[in-house]
Amino acid sequence: MAAGKGTRLKSKRPKVLHEIGGRALLLHVITAAKHVVPADHIYCIVGHEADRVKAAVEATGIRFVLQAEQRGTGHALQMVKAFFTLSGAEIPKHLLVLSGDVPLIRPETIQAVCDLHLLEHAAMTILTAVPPDPTGYGRVLRAREDGPEVTAIVEQKSLRPEQLGTPEINSGIYCFETHKLFAKLDLLSTNNAHGEYYLTDVAAMLVEDGERVVAVKADSVDEVLGANTIAEMMHLDAAMRLAKTRQLMAQGVTIFRPETCVIDPEVHVGADSVIEPYVQLLGATTIGVESRIRSYSVVQNSTLGDGVLVRNGCVLDGAVVGDGVLLGPYAHLRPESRIGDGAHVGNFVETKKVTLGKGSKANHLNYLGDAVIGAGVNIGAGAITCNYDGVHKHQTIIGDGVFVGSDSTLVAPVTLEAGAYVAAGSCITEDVPAGALALGRSRQVTKPGWAAERRAAIAAKKNC
Ligand code: UD1
Ligand code: CA
Repeated sequence: MAAGKGTRLKSKRPKVLHEIGGRALLLHVITAAKHVVPADHIYCIVGHEADRVKAAVEATGIRFVLQAEQRGTGHALQMVKAFFTLSGAEIPKHLLVLSGDVPLIRPETIQAVCDLHLLEHAAMTILTAVPPDPTGYGRVLRAREDGPEVTAIVEQKSLRPEQLGTPEINSGIYCFETHKLFAKLDLLSTNNAHGEYYLTDVAAMLVEDGERVVAVKADSVDEVLGANTIAEMMHLDAAMRLAKTRQLMAQGVTIFRPETCVIDPEVHVGADSVIEPYVQLLGATTIGVESRIRSYSVVQNSTLGDGVLVRNGCVLDGAVVGDGVLLGPYAHLRPESRIGDGAHVGNFVETKKVTLGKGSKANHLNYLGDAVIGAGVNIGAGAITCNYDGVHKHQTIIGDGVFVGSDSTLVAPVTLEAGAYVAAGSCITEDVPAGALALGRSRQVTKPGWAAERRAAIAAKKNC
């Protein structure tokens, strides 16, 4: 179920697309479900901003059912029934229902609900929990304290005074015998506090028919916590982030002040690497062994080798960095930056679509874009590639062992062949052959005594 708007979030983004642990809520749920059933057996009920939600999770290979108007969780399942009836698709014997906003659910727990459902020959099996504060959740009323049988689920707003103390909550995760569920859906009413069709009302209706409705408690409460407000989501996010740092630390990574780091689920870090406080490692990022990421660096979708030192405040996006590379402080590696083994990219250097060869150095205040740079090259302070003429991007090619003097501007397209020298302050517009020196600046003019004469002239003016 992922059709709801998420009114309580006060956000334009559909609730199920809000992210925790670097991933949309709904994607967490789908990922867990895919461990239990094949993707083409999973139907996602979409409604509010349906196209946006579909686009975000389409790649998972699941199917979709449209709930154009969102009139409650019972109505959502009515749409599923209509979908099966109209499409003539084979109706499965059992139906597992998950909530798109209960993101920490684990495949093992989903499986346990299914297993118990079959074992108990139940018409409906409800996953429950007993959290420290049950406020806001629907409560599960058991027939007996020590038995699995349930008599009803009562929503928070419908709790009678004597039911307020009921500690067991409904997780919004259920297994149904499909035809028994479908038989009740059309009998639901909107005669309740929200004026919605509650799926939860099906529990009491089945019990009334003498059907078996049972509850199973989740092993961990966190797993079934809902995400209805930004604060609740950030609570879940913190839990996931901490779990990720614990997993990396268990694999030999040192993380100082792990509570300050933001590390996405797919990130790999090799043993003996060190992550300093306030580091973000995002997306598909891989870091080798014995590397160190200093504070305030943000590394996204990048691959870093072994023994890399990323000094403070670097921003990497889509970069590939070899072994023993030194970056920063404050280096900005944009997509398709390929930094060779042992190379240095120093402070306030920006790279984009660049190959920097083995051991080459660009240490101070450079912009290197659309360039292929060989090994053992030295790019002097402030030198830049002029890769853009306002319409097109052009390439700069720099051979092995080239020395580019400080503050030079290399106007692309241009090639500096191996071993060439460019004098400091040059504007290079023509290719430089191997081993040559290129100077591209006006000759210096020096006027001896000029300053003294000028001061004397000013003083004379003041005196008269
Ligand atoms: C629901 C349960 C409540 C349970 C809680 C657990 C009902 C009536 N109540 O309440 O007992 O404790 O979940 O988290 O079911 N949705 C649709 N279409 C709709 C309405 C909702 O697809 O018309 C989806 C939402 O996108 C969401 C899920 O169903 O993913 C749950 O809806 P929500 O409105 O958050 O229900 P709760 O009030 O949390
Ligand atoms: Ca909810």
